[in-house]
Amino acid sequence: MHVLSVSSLKGGVGKTTVALGLASAAFAQGLKTLVVDLDPQCDATTGLGAVGEFKNNVASVLKNPKHNVVSASIVSSTWGKVATGSVDVLVGSPRSIHHDTPHPTVRQTWKLEEALHTVEKEYDLVIIDTPPSINALTRTAWVASDRVLIVTEPGIFSVVAADRAIRALEEVREAITKRVRPLGILINRHRAASKEQDFRVQELKDMFPELLIPDYLDERAHLQQTQGAARPIHTWPGDGAAEIADFFTALLKRALDSFAEPNDEVVQEKPKEKRKFFRRHKRGKKGPELVTIETAIEELGEDLIGDEPIEEFAENGQLATEQWSEPAWNDDETSAKQNEVSTQTGSWNFKLEIEKPEGEN
Ligand SMILES: Nc1ncnc2c1ncn2[C@@H]1O[C@H](COP(=O)(O)OP(=O)(O)OP(=O)(O)O)[C@@H](O)[C@H]1O
Ligand SMILES: [Mg+2]
Repeated sequence: MHVLSVSSLKGGVGKTTVALGLASAAFAQGLKTLVVDLDPQCDATTGLGAVGEFKNNVASVLKNPKHNVVSASIVSSTWGKVATGSVDVLVGSPRSIHHDTPHPTVRQTWKLEEALHTVEKEYDLVIIDTPPSINALTRTAWVASDRVLIVTEPGIFSVVAADRAIRALEEVREAITKRVRPLGILINRHRAASKEQDFRVQELKDMFPELLIPDYLDERAHLQQTQGAARPIHTWPGDGAAEIADFFTALLKRALDSFAEPNDEVVQEKPKEKRKFFRRHKRGKKGPELVTIETAIEELGEDLIGDEPIEEFAENGQLATEQWSEPAWNDDETSAKQNEVSTQTGSWNFKLEIEKPEGEN
């Protein structure tokens, strides 16, 4: 199973359109596909024909990412009625806004990954439609993803917005997981005969020579029609629709090819003896994975533990900084306290949870 997030900092640039276009391409190819609607506006859910009140939804999943909750929150899209194939949707909810906190804990940012781990065998591809921001929900999506596609319009602030998105993604890579990588920056609503747009496209090309996807998605009314009809673009009649369908087929191929590339940065370490552990759930693992505190610190950045060397920290079993003055495992309870730490970017904080390995006092 591979996971792709479709994101942008700006609203209305076409995230949902692109997420659904890709879902349509996957549908046409017979891939078992799940669309996760993380946006509290729930447009992807609507576009997939899942209209109504859902007791279980993405907000329930983020609260409790257990298999039964995840399964109860997934419904089939109505796309299966117009052609063979199936796309499911993890239904969105306005209540997911309560999970869009500015200071998510590390455990919170792994919640969707935990949830997807429970349905790993059931899908080939997961596409996550994210809200127009880089708050907790989008970061939760990125932590669960293999690739992130950044969507932009060729407008005046597009370079700045794309740059901020790429930098925020790099921050998540540095701080939490090296698995996620940008798939690229996609220009949407491209109009061939616009001088202003040509200028903006050139700006994006200059700024992101490697990341800018060379094929642009044109401004096309068909896209709005298919969304209104809750139908996949690949089943829409006419040459215009077929052209857009081909565009999304090629974009999906780009994603699938990218998933297949090896990622040398993801190192699998075995926990050493007498180390403190950091618990996280990941796809591809049976149970929660324990990594050494050193690995956790590596992932969270060394800045987090102040100037003192890690060895000393590990030896006396205490955290070195003022922020972490209360050693988590001095607490009577087995489960650790949370300590808020800054990633030094000023834009968001993590909380690190540390658990005592079994048998250690
Ligand atoms: N290439 C396109 N051609 C024509 N219309 C488009 C195109 N891309 C998007 N649209 C239309 O623009 C509007 C906004 O697109 P969409 O909802 O996909 O953006 P979004 O980034 O998901 O927005 P939000 O930030 O609100 O979630 C929709 O009405 C959609 O149909
Ligand atoms: Mg949207």
